[in-house]
Amino acid sequence: MKNLFSIAQITDFHVGRSITFPSGRIDLYDELLQTAAKLRSMDPQPDMVMVTGDLANHGGDADYLRVKKVLDSLEIPYHLVVGNHDSRAKLRSIFSDHPLLHSRSEYIQYVIEDAPIRIIVLDTLAVGSHRGLIDTKRLDWLDARLAEAPQKPSMIFLHHPPFETGMPYPDSLGLDGKEELGKIVAKYRNIEAIAAGHTHRDSVMRWNGTVAYLTSSSAFSYKLEFHDVDDIDPLYNPPAFRIFRWDPEVGLVSHLCYTHKYEFGFTEGVPEAPEN
Ligand SMILES: [Fe+2]
Ligand SMILES: [Fe+2]
Repeated sequence: MKNLFSIAQITDFHVGRSITFPSGRIDLYDELLQTAAKLRSMDPQPDMVMVTGDLANHGGDADYLRVKKVLDSLEIPYHLVVGNHDSRAKLRSIFSDHPLLHSRSEYIQYVIEDAPIRIIVLDTLAVGSHRGLIDTKRLDWLDARLAEAPQKPSMIFLHHPPFETGMPYPDSLGLDGKEELGKIVAKYRNIEAIAAGHTHRDSVMRWNGTVAYLTSSSAFSYKLEFHDVDDIDPLYNPPAFRIFRWDPEVGLVSHLCYTHKYEFGFTEGVPEAPEN
């Protein structure tokens, strides 16, 4: 058996919110349960789960506690990234058994050193804003961490997208400082991928010498909207997550996975034909 390592990236649960679609009302907590069930059913199971922000829609204790209960039930090591809907203080107090959240810095930025691929987590929260921010302090920290191991295959996880998607509405809620972030990333050749969430859509781009992924929400999507609109309604596209599979002999391969079985077979594998 090859020495493979796989990371599941799950993102944007927004637990605490319910959404009414034409097909019915959905409690987003139920979508998190479905995601957990899917991860539990995988063979092999992921070795690690990266949760890239927006865990609880309103940042309430009760919602974080039920998110934690589900994540703990996976029995897979998991790590948290702060999103614009999250509170650093709440993440630190409720996930008090996650020492990496408790650095002396005000930011939730840390490095996971004991995995076959080095993982760097960035904090892009700008308190009070849905836009993200990566400022000089956070960028200097990243540059210093990357400089420590410039030969070691690495990944960066953050909540806000590091690139413009071409969709004006999500881009209006994008990341300030991404150009400076790009200059640092471009200095290194060992960054296998960057993974973010926030847009609730799957987008991929070659970016500053690496590949940057935006991963679909595990709860709900937004329409692919290239016009300049004031708002976008939630869309019940298939909730999804991403598996990154690291094989030192091959490299890093991304697989987008859907959490549900859908009528008429909108799921992984061979579509099932309707009965008649
Ligand atoms: Fe989100
Ligand atoms: Fe977000």
